[in-house]
Amino acid sequence: MECEQSIKAVRGNFLDITHTVQCPEEIESSLRFIKDGLLLIRDGHVAWFGSWEEGHHQIPDSIRVRDYSGKMIVPGFVDTHIHYPQCEMVGAYGEQLLDWLNKHTFPAEKRYNDLEYAREMSAFFIKQLLRNGTTTALVFGTVHPESVEALFESARHINMRMIAGKVMMDRNAPDYLLDTPESSYTQSKALIERWHKNGRLLYAITPRFAPTSSPEQLAMVQRLRQEYPDTYLHTHLSENKDEIAWVKALFPERKNYLDVYHHYGLTGRKSVFAHCIHLEEDEWNCLRETDSSIAFCPTSNLYLGSGLFNLSKAWQKRVKVGMGTDIGAGTTFNMLQTLNEAYKIMQLQGYRLSAYEAFYLATLGGADALGLANTIGNFNVGKEADFVVLEPTATPLQQLRYDNSKTLMDKLFVMMTLGDDRSIYRTYVDGRLVYERT
Ligand code: GUN
Ligand code: ZN
Repeated sequence: MECEQSIKAVRGNFLDITHTVQCPEEIESSLRFIKDGLLLIRDGHVAWFGSWEEGHHQIPDSIRVRDYSGKMIVPGFVDTHIHYPQCEMVGAYGEQLLDWLNKHTFPAEKRYNDLEYAREMSAFFIKQLLRNGTTTALVFGTVHPESVEALFESARHINMRMIAGKVMMDRNAPDYLLDTPESSYTQSKALIERWHKNGRLLYAITPRFAPTSSPEQLAMVQRLRQEYPDTYLHTHLSENKDEIAWVKALFPERKNYLDVYHHYGLTGRKSVFAHCIHLEEDEWNCLRETDSSIAFCPTSNLYLGSGLFNLSKAWQKRVKVGMGTDIGAGTTFNMLQTLNEAYKIMQLQGYRLSAYEAFYLATLGGADALGLANTIGNFNVGKEADFVVLEPTATPLQQLRYDNSKTLMDKLFVMMTLGDDRSIYRTYVDGRLVYERT
C-alpha cells in the first residue's frame, strides 16, 4: 500500500491555462475551468486532474479529501524578479533609482554578511512569499555568499522551486558591498556547485546591473555562463533614464544598454532582464533573437517613477514576459495587487489588460519566461504540485462585488483588482500544505 500514503486528493473549482501562447488572443481558448474538480497528487506531482465526477472513484478509502468547494484553486504564482535583502526597506521615501540605491538599498544590504541575520531574513522572506501565494521566485541575494546560502537552506527545507544568486558587483557602490572579478567568480562557482539542481533549487548568475560591474567582471560572468550553460542570468536593464545615460558613458563602445550584456554573451533563453522600460528598437530585436525574457515589475516601476512598461510591444516582438514584484522597490509581495497595478499601467497606454492575460503572466507565462513551463504553471499530469487556494470573497466589498459578477472573467478581474493577502486561503508547495490563513 505504498502509494496510498503518498497520494493526496484536493477538491474544488480549478482554473489554469493548459499551454503556452504566442499572443494574448490565444489565452482564452487555452483556459481550463473545472467546476467541482479533483486533483490527485503523488510524490509532489500531479497524478490525475479532471472533474470530481470522473475521478473520485480512484481515491483510496483511507485518503482524506481536502475539500475547498466554493474556493478557486490556481497554480502557484511565479515571481520573476524580487530582492530578498530589501524587505527591511520597502516603502523608502522620496528617491528615484540611483539615489534610492545609494541612500536606502546599499545600507540595507550591508547586514547580509552575517549568516545568522541572513537566515532570520530568509525565513521571513519565504513566509511572505507563501502567505501571498507565490511558490516560485527568481531572487536577488546580496554580494555576500552567506545571503544565498541562507536563502537556499530555507527553500530546501520545504522543497520549494526557487532560483537565486549572489550579486556580483565590483564598482560604483560602497566598499562594503564590493567583490572583485576573481572573488565574484570563485564565490558564484562554489554556490553553483553546491546548490544548482540541489532538489528543486536552481542558480542564477547575478551581476547587479552594468554600472556596478567592470568589463573584467563581466568577462568573469561570461566565463561562468560558459562553464554552466544551464544556470540562469539575472540582472536589470533599462529601468531609468539616468541609469541608461550612465551605462552609455561607462561603455561608450557599445551601441546600447543591452549590447553591454549581449557583448559578453549574457543574453539567451535563461536570461531574465528586469524592467526593460525604455528599450530601443534594436534592443527589442536582440531580446527576441536571443529568446531572452523580461520581468515586468509594475509596483516598482510606479514607485520609483521609472516609467510605463510596454507589454503590447513585448507581445508584438514575441518576447516572453513574467511578473515581478521587485521588493523592495516594489511595494507588495502580493501577485494580485501586482496585477492590479499592471492593469493601470496598461490603461495609461490605452491597452486593456484582461484578467485572463494577467492570470497567464502570473502563472504559466511566468513559468515560461523562466524556461519552466514543462515543470510548473498548470495542473497538467506530471507537473510539480504547487498551487494556491484563493478565497474570492475575503472581504465584505469583495463579497458584494463577487455577487454582482456574472462571468468567470469578471470574477477573476474582481479578485485581481480588490484582492490581496487576505485572498490567499491556502498555499501548497511540492504537494504539501505550507500556509494556512488564520
Ligand atoms: N538596479 C540595480 N540594482 C537595483 C535594485 O536593487 N532594484 C531596482 N529596482 N533596480 C536596480
Ligand atoms: Zn530589481
